Amino acid sequence: MKIHILTLFPNMFAGPFDESIIKRARERGLVSISIYNLRHYTQDKHHVVDDYPYGGGRGMVLKPEPLFEAVESIRGDARIPVILLTPQGRLFSQQVAQELARYDEMILICGHYEGVDERVREHLVDDEISIGDYVLSGGEIAAMVVVDAVARQLPGVLGAEGAAGEDSHALGLLEYPQYTRPQLFRGWAVPEVLLSGNHAHIAKWRRQQSILRTLRRRPDLLERAELSPEEKGFLEEIKKGNQAR
Ligand code: ADE
Repeated sequence: MKIHILTLFPNMFAGPFDESIIKRARERGLVSISIYNLRHYTQDKHHVVDDYPYGGGRGMVLKPEPLFEAVESIRGDARIPVILLTPQGRLFSQQVAQELARYDEMILICGHYEGVDERVREHLVDDEISIGDYVLSGGEIAAMVVVDAVARQLPGVLGAEGAAGEDSHALGLLEYPQYTRPQLFRGWAVPEVLLSGNHAHIAKWRRQQSILRTLRRRPDLLERAELSPEEKGFLEEIKKGNQAR
C-alpha cells in the first residue's frame, strides 16, 4: 500500500514510522509512506499556506491552493482516495482501519489551525476521519494513528508477532489477560489453567476472560461481538450473578 501524507510539519513524522513494525513493513516493501511539505506547493514568494477567515473570527484557515496543488501533483489522472484528518470527521475504529486497508493507495491531509477552507472539503476530500472526540493541535498525530492501525492490517506486516485478526477489537472483544515468566512474582501467581498445557481449556478460559473484561470495561462492544451459544449462556450467567450481588 502507498500512503501519501500532506503536512505543514514533516519533521513530526521522523520517529514513529522509523521504528518497530512500521519500519520493518516499509523495509520489506509492504507499505510505502511519503511525506509532503505543503509549503512546497505554494506559488507565492513567502510560501503562505494560511490566511484570515472571511467574516472574521479567531485563528487562521488553511488556504485551498496548496492542498489542491499537492493532491493533483501526487495523483495525476489516478483516482486515489483523499482523507482529511479532522475532529469533525467520522470516528476512527478497527472497522474503519480494515476498510482503509483495502485501498492500494491513499492521500492523508493533516488539517491545522482553525480548519481548512470549506472548498477543500467539498471538492477535494473523499472522506474525513477523527481519531476521537478531543481536539489535537493538528492532524499529524491522528495521521500516525491511522497509518499504524491500517498498516497492521496489511498482509505480511505482523509476521511472527501474530495476526491482526486476533488484536483486541478485531474480534469485537477486548483481549484476555496475558502473563509471562516468572510464574510467581511478589507472591502473585499466574492462573493455573495457563500452565496446564490443555489447549482447549486455555482457549475457553481466554474467551471467557475476554467476555468478562469487555462486559466490565466496554459493555457497548458486546452488542456487536460474535458469541457462540455457549458463550452467550456464560455471559447471561455473569450478568445474573452481577444483578444478584
Ligand atoms: N485534528 C485535530 N484533532 C483531531 C482529531 N481528534 N482527529 C483527527 N484529526 C484531528
